[in-house]
Amino acid sequence: MGGRVERRLGRCHNIDGLRAAARRRLPFPIFDFIEGGAEDERSLARNRAGFDRYLLMPRILQDVSQVDLSTTVLGSEVALPVIVAPTGMPALFHHRGEDALVPAAARHGAIFTASTMASRTIEAVAAASPAPKWFQLYVWKDRAVLEDFIDRCRQGGYDALCLTVDLPMTGNRERDLRNRLTFPPRPTAAGLLDMLRKPAWLWHLETKGPVLPANLAGHGVETIGDLSRYTERQLDKAVTWETAAWIRERWGGKFLLKGVLRADDARRAAEAGVDGVIVSNHGGRQLDQVPAPIEVLADVVAALEGRAEVILDGGVRRGTDVLKALALGAKACMTGRPFLYGLAAGGGAGVERAFEIFAEELRRDMMLAGCPTVASVGPDLVRRAE
Ligand SMILES: Cc1cc2nc3c(=O)[nH]c(=O)nc-3n(C[C@H](O)[C@H](O)[C@H](O)COP(=O)(O)O)c2cc1C
Repeated sequence: MGGRVERRLGRCHNIDGLRAAARRRLPFPIFDFIEGGAEDERSLARNRAGFDRYLLMPRILQDVSQVDLSTTVLGSEVALPVIVAPTGMPALFHHRGEDALVPAAARHGAIFTASTMASRTIEAVAAASPAPKWFQLYVWKDRAVLEDFIDRCRQGGYDALCLTVDLPMTGNRERDLRNRLTFPPRPTAAGLLDMLRKPAWLWHLETKGPVLPANLAGHGVETIGDLSRYTERQLDKAVTWETAAWIRERWGGKFLLKGVLRADDARRAAEAGVDGVIVSNHGGRQLDQVPAPIEVLADVVAALEGRAEVILDGGVRRGTDVLKALALGAKACMTGRPFLYGLAAGGGAGVERAFEIFAEELRRDMMLAGCPTVASVGPDLVRRAE
């Protein structure tokens, strides 16, 4: 078994290879759930295409005999500037879920961000990781639930809290509607048939019980039906800057906003004392027709004037993408789907393969660009494509 997985992963030479492997292992409605964006998926496409708007300008005759990928993000030392984005219920893509994701991130010295909708509890993720870890919050109307999460994160030694601000409701993801992967799911005949064609995935789903957000189990969410009722009732659409300030104060530690696209919002975030801003459009899954994060990164960086750190999130698939983001002023990149592809393709070994690919590509790209350290990557390294 181990040998087969390794051989499969060994044939994945880049993130796109992991994506193809994940596609072969998952029923198409589940793969589409990872892959899809909102409505016409224009923002989803821009997230990749946006990187082509910049070209790299390599420096010649630099000593790159040693290339060091390490850096710091919000005071935490990391081995490479790539952060695992929060994703809901990863156990749906591989039964080990965070049990595979978290140790792989720790082994590669990377920050892991646990989602509010994680398939493992705040405590389980904390216990699995000696590396820096963040927790992502959605805001429920029942503030006692939020307070409970915040207190548990403090006890679990989380290094930062990240408030997602682009989801007052779920975006219009039409692939999921077509596949009837709704709440509760009512898969089409074609979807069901494809599930039968993926017996390993189906067997694990059937034997490991329903995949649900573990952090909500103590709040009455025990079935898929409970989950749909809970989110409908509890997801707070009235979250404002005041709510963010209240959460930040209650938490008292490093605090980020995830889902910033505008310079004026970034400025306001800095004035509100946030430590970090994650430039993100939720992987193109929320409002369609918004810019790609890479397209607005420079504006956000300029607006912040160094008052908060900037993370670029969305469409990062290559070492050159990371290099461009760093050159435009990001401290690090965050990415979601690549690690889910790895997870689906080969559990923990697949997640490790995703890290290896990012680290190998970035190391090579920094060498070829004449940058021996992350600190040496500056704005001169990019120019706008004509
Ligand atoms: C399957 C899936 C589930 C996600 N769940 C969450 C979530 O629970 N909370 C959150 O803030 N973002 C969530 N996101 C968005 C990611 O955190 C991240 O912003 C996005 O994946 C970045 O784009 P990329 O996949 O191109 O890297 C999810 C994304 C995917 C693909």
